[in-house]
Amino acid sequence: MTYREDIEGIDASILMHPKVWEASGHVENFTDPMVDCKQCKARFRLDILGDSINEKKKKKFIEALQENIKNDPGLSTQFSNLSEKAEDLFTALLESPAFGKLMLNELNCPQCGNKNTFTQARQFNLMFKTFIGPLEDSSAVVYLRPETAQGIYVNFLNVQGASRQKLPFGIAQIGKAFRNEINTKNFLFRTREFEQMEMQFFVKPGEDKKWYDYWKNERLQWFYSLGMTNGKLRYHDHPANKLAHYAKEATDIEYEFPFGWGEIEGIHNRTNFDLTRHEQFSGKSLKYFDEESKEKFIPFIIETSAGASRSFMAFLVDSYYEEEVKNESRSVLRFHSRLAPIKAAILPLVNKDGMPEIARNIETDLRKNLKVYYDDKGAVGRRYRRQDEAGTPYCITIDTQTLSDQTVTIRERDSMEQIRISSDKILSYLFEKLSK
Ligand code: GAP
Repeated sequence: MTYREDIEGIDASILMHPKVWEASGHVENFTDPMVDCKQCKARFRLDILGDSINEKKKKKFIEALQENIKNDPGLSTQFSNLSEKAEDLFTALLESPAFGKLMLNELNCPQCGNKNTFTQARQFNLMFKTFIGPLEDSSAVVYLRPETAQGIYVNFLNVQGASRQKLPFGIAQIGKAFRNEINTKNFLFRTREFEQMEMQFFVKPGEDKKWYDYWKNERLQWFYSLGMTNGKLRYHDHPANKLAHYAKEATDIEYEFPFGWGEIEGIHNRTNFDLTRHEQFSGKSLKYFDEESKEKFIPFIIETSAGASRSFMAFLVDSYYEEEVKNESRSVLRFHSRLAPIKAAILPLVNKDGMPEIARNIETDLRKNLKVYYDDKGAVGRRYRRQDEAGTPYCITIDTQTLSDQTVTIRERDSMEQIRISSDKILSYLFEKLSK
């Protein structure tokens, strides 16, 4: 957003009028199918019930099901149709009306181990509800936003008018989103409260496919430009029968985590669905006036929806290395310098002979421009290791030579090479290196 003139920023409300979520379709459609165990009362999302069963067992299970239905031509045809199309046949069978119940009767509860104890699947809305004002009745219900996108849609014309943007242009925001996930897991991967960074790009109808392809490529390159390892990212295009209620075309950017491939960002062609619905529900026009053609129309929207917390976790995993250096092991986060939370550390070799004073002056100068860290505790080797673990790209050491010629050493995190430069050149040196 900061680097593009065609994208504006916004900070919308977390609690919005409940009609926003009716218009968006979330009240009706933002649901996951769930099953409860009647024995131990545990609740599971149907689409991840298979995660706790190993592949060999699943295969056996599917073969037994196929054997059981072989004398029923109707079910056999449905089975073949599903097995031709489904990427994950076990889950597809569980989610299908024809086989879901049969399968659930045969499965063991992952929590208590009992068989044939599941209820039928029921839809469970993922939005958190709360109340405005003192009365806890249905007229006071509001929702914690499950995505930041809707705050952008309802403010679309405010932002467009104030910024005088013309199509195509985007509105972006970073903020908290909340989902009542039943099974949170894998550290930051699935949480109930998480940070999204979404951008909604408004385009002329008919130009949506072109911009969808543009953003699909652009977003993958963004991850690579910040140092993500080649081959660790892939697209997962959604088949038509799995599209969200608002999408015409959608893909996920997936990262290969230690626990398997997982979505870190979604790119969606949301058509004119959202703005049309907000217009209907609010009674206010959300049409854009095109000065060139003198036409009024509802723009199409291409959405790039990244999880900030999930992407952060992917960068964290991707940059973590353990290695042997001079017979010692070190842990290092090889963060791209733009992602490193601390850009440089300032280390006086010893706490005497005027070194701390020089080091503090350098720190004060750098801190006006960069996030830096001052550390004078322990042997310098240990201080380097601490900064390696935090992913700090540069360590500046003030030593005996500094006292006579005003030079310092700068150590680079990954190569561990050191150079000596004059202390008045530190800032320009770091700027040049960090801007790469
Ligand atoms: N506005 C569209 C939208 O919200 P989504 O695919 O549901 O699309 C977008 O979510 C991104 O938000 C995901 O790619 C993921 O990075 C992140 N995300 C979704 N649910 C999450 C959760 N429970 N915990 C952490 N991140 C989540």
